[in-house]
Amino acid sequence: MHVTLRQLEAFITVSRHLSFTRAAEELNLTQPAVSMQIKQLESQLGQALFEHMGKKIYLTEAGHEVRQYARSILQLVDNMKAGLDSLTGLERGTLSISVATTAHYFAPKLLSIFYERYPGVNVKLDVTNRESLVSQLENNTVDMVIMGRPPEDIDIESGAFMENPLVLIAPSDHPFTRERSIQLKRLENEVFLVREEGSGTRKAMELFFAQHGIAMTTGMEVSSDEAIKRSVQAGLGLGIMSRDAVQNELQLGLLSTPDVLHFPIMRHWYVMHRKGKRLSPVAQAFKTFLLEEAASILKKEPKMPAHGPSLPPAQHPAPNSITTPGHDEPVKYAPVKPKYVLTGPDGNPIPPAPRK
Ligand code: PGA
Repeated sequence: MHVTLRQLEAFITVSRHLSFTRAAEELNLTQPAVSMQIKQLESQLGQALFEHMGKKIYLTEAGHEVRQYARSILQLVDNMKAGLDSLTGLERGTLSISVATTAHYFAPKLLSIFYERYPGVNVKLDVTNRESLVSQLENNTVDMVIMGRPPEDIDIESGAFMENPLVLIAPSDHPFTRERSIQLKRLENEVFLVREEGSGTRKAMELFFAQHGIAMTTGMEVSSDEAIKRSVQAGLGLGIMSRDAVQNELQLGLLSTPDVLHFPIMRHWYVMHRKGKRLSPVAQAFKTFLLEEAASILKKEPKMPAHGPSLPPAQHPAPNSITTPGHDEPVKYAPVKPKYVLTGPDGNPIPPAPRK
């Protein structure tokens, strides 16, 4: 059986008006075209749907039966269209986002503001370490990822949206806290608590020590920033982690950041996805929101995107920054942009305004 939506539409319209002429007017078709649709439908169903009595037409018994189903089918199609329209209009839709373990300290605040703007959006947030984020990017299983540095071996589009300084943390009564401009070499006498293999923070830390020719002594391997903070407080060693992760402890005086030369290690937070990925309107809106507003919401220095197709060339090396060819290039500061409407009259997201 080959029944088309067009035939059902013609049938429903004729059955409502009980007139081929008026149905044709409503459907913007000729009367023979409407008659043809009905004939084809009757032939597919093997039953007459209308009977003619004089100049009038009536639904047959089969016609009444088919009318019920035709209505339901067309209603379902309408619902489907509406569902898709609302997705396009940012009223509904799912945002699937994965963030580095360390980014969970600020991601919820950003998501709560995004939620306020688009309350119908359903967010799936996965918090995991760098290694597993890279495999999610590779397999294209999430809309986008937030982490500390774009991977080098996958084709991705990325943009830096704010600073991510990694600070040295020590117990608040550590002797270093009474000194200024401590030489990096002296860290060779300290024990460092490190995150698990696969952590972006750990990779950055190892790279930093290697670049400066410092032999790092590692103590416990701990797979959680929270546990590292507690362990440092307990005197088990020093740590290096994103300032985003230790803000509270520093404010409360539970931990200190000794004044060691070359610190902080300057990095950035990036939003990224597979190159050429077709982002849903919700995902595009979230990406724009991060690039344009995250830094000002979190009261941080905004950053120019530092990697990807539309990114500006690097200017001058930032002090103490870790640079990898093609990635983490030092970036220019840019003024915070005011909030702006994210969708145009056609419902499509407006791309970020060009920065000065
Ligand atoms: P991590 O990642 O939580 O895996 O250490 C942070 C980062 O990507 O810099």
